[in-house]
Amino acid sequence: SFCISKFKVLLGDVGAGKSSLVLRFVKGQFVEFQESTIGAAFFSQTLAVNDATVKFEIWDTAGQERYHSLAPMYYRGAAAAIIVYDISNQASFERAKKWVQELQAQGNPNMVMALAGNKADLLDARKVTAEANTLPKSFINALQEAQVYAQEYGLFFMETSAKTATNVNDIFYEIEIDGDYS
Ligand code: GTP
Ligand code: MG
Repeated sequence: SFCISKFKVLLGDVGAGKSSLVLRFVKGQFVEFQESTIGAAFFSQTLAVNDATVKFEIWDTAGQERYHSLAPMYYRGAAAAIIVYDISNQASFERAKKWVQELQAQGNPNMVMALAGNKADLLDARKVTAEANTLPKSFINALQEAQVYAQEYGLFFMETSAKTATNVNDIFYEIEIDGDYS
């Protein structure tokens, strides 16, 4: 059976890795010097999910503040949103919380929301090189903080890496399966 899924939207701070996550999901690629998105970009990807053929349609929005006023055009029609932050950037986590607030106030009330703590490969790198009780601790605290936050607000949560592909398909599939596409 063939199913055209409803739209998904990615929101989050500039540089959090929204475009990189979409590029990894849609094309299996990663670029170190991804250009900052202007306005928004549209992607689609057709995949087999649980015996059905699903067409993912994704709006990748621009994180730059000057484009903030455009965001409602993309999230109002979306069945699911992935709110992205960078695990190595606390300000991007604060920005993600603002997006959650905005979606809960102004988005579709049935919207499925996922929180993606992106650049998880940076944590892996530090785990290898850092001594116990040094730098990773702040990352571990941040992970717990995000987990607690996601649970409190009913968001699906995963740490992802567009660079290594960790959890990228998983987070897109999860919002697909959880969404009401009937
Ligand atoms: P805007 O379009 O400006 O809102 O940014 P964005 O959220 O789309 O971020 P983008 O995908 O452009 O990524 C910003 C930078 O982070 C790029 O240089 C990417 O290569 C890098 N980046 C993205 N994802 C990852 C990741 O998982 N790991 C690492 N190490 N770098 C990443
Ligand atoms: Mg972008």
